[in-house]
Amino acid sequence: MTTIALLPGDGIGTEILEGPVAFLRRLERDGVPVRLTGPWPYGSTGWARTGSILPAQTVQACRDADVILSGAVGTHPGVTAEQCPNPEAALIELRHLFDLRVSVRTVRVPGGEDVIIVRNITGGAYAGPDRRTESDGVRAAEDRMVLEPDRVREVFDIAADHARRHPGRRAISVDKASVFATSRLWRRIARQAAAESGVRFDDVNVDRAAYELVKPGHLPAVIVTEGIFGDILSDIVCARAGSPALCGSATINPELPSGRGATALFEPAHGSSPHRTGSRRSNPTGAWLALVDLLAWCPDLAGLGLHTKVRQALDHVIDTAPPTYDLAAPGSATLDLDQFNVRVLDALSAVSA
Ligand code: IPM
Ligand code: MN
Repeated sequence: MTTIALLPGDGIGTEILEGPVAFLRRLERDGVPVRLTGPWPYGSTGWARTGSILPAQTVQACRDADVILSGAVGTHPGVTAEQCPNPEAALIELRHLFDLRVSVRTVRVPGGEDVIIVRNITGGAYAGPDRRTESDGVRAAEDRMVLEPDRVREVFDIAADHARRHPGRRAISVDKASVFATSRLWRRIARQAAAESGVRFDDVNVDRAAYELVKPGHLPAVIVTEGIFGDILSDIVCARAGSPALCGSATINPELPSGRGATALFEPAHGSSPHRTGSRRSNPTGAWLALVDLLAWCPDLAGLGLHTKVRQALDHVIDTAPPTYDLAAPGSATLDLDQFNVRVLDALSAVSA
């Protein structure tokens, strides 16, 4: 039995998950061994409801689950930045609590092929609180960046698995080895990993990588890079794809520890879009891509091949239906959230029965 804790979070988080949740509920009804719990509050709405951005009951629900499906965390209508200054800290805390230390993002590039961005998401620039010193405005602030060789290697091993699936396309390792010691370690590990895995990544400096990714031309199949570089480059790749909504994000613990709670968190990579909340116009592609990753990750579900079917249904809708507002030319017909989800669910209607 796979238990999924639902953490819709803030802004459009709840509505963006509706389609994937409807599909999961259908699987539940059809006897597929999957169970949903929640929705559990966190982020700004967690604060509004319980006074905490990561309530204890939500953490417990994640301990009782195999994986987490999240909507978006950030600003929420009616909750001011003075009241709740840093809701994103809830997401960062979840990563550290469950040791979800590698991020794998899939950007669906219209008319092209996916770009996968693999990065460490704890350690490095995304250090835990023990490596940060807040400033009172007088003393210096500090973020100490530490990369352990083993942690870099596991990021490369995951990236190599993805690169192997795209043999004809380029794979790049992005760093700033001319400046940072952590980047020089990164390059050293890149060479070791290539020698042992046979998968080669071209070394590219991060500034050059930004230039190459913005400039029209072929996109690499895989980008492997340090957490903060990957955070920025994944938004650039989304811009090339046409919208921040075209990215699904998996944050995983590669050791698959059993009995210690959630082994991964899946979410669309975009923010909570507070100004669009309730408009039901949002593009749910990222949420569906997150579901694809979830179905592929959970051992009991992966064997059923559902991830392939959901991805095919999603691709079919994107390729044949009018675009959502974010991808449409001004004044042309668009698909809203509900119309999009109905089409994907229809395309999937035969799948679980
Ligand atoms: C992302 C976001 C997060 C990150 C924030 C919300 C902590 O920017 O998922 O890309 O930097 O990892
Ligand atoms: Mn980001």
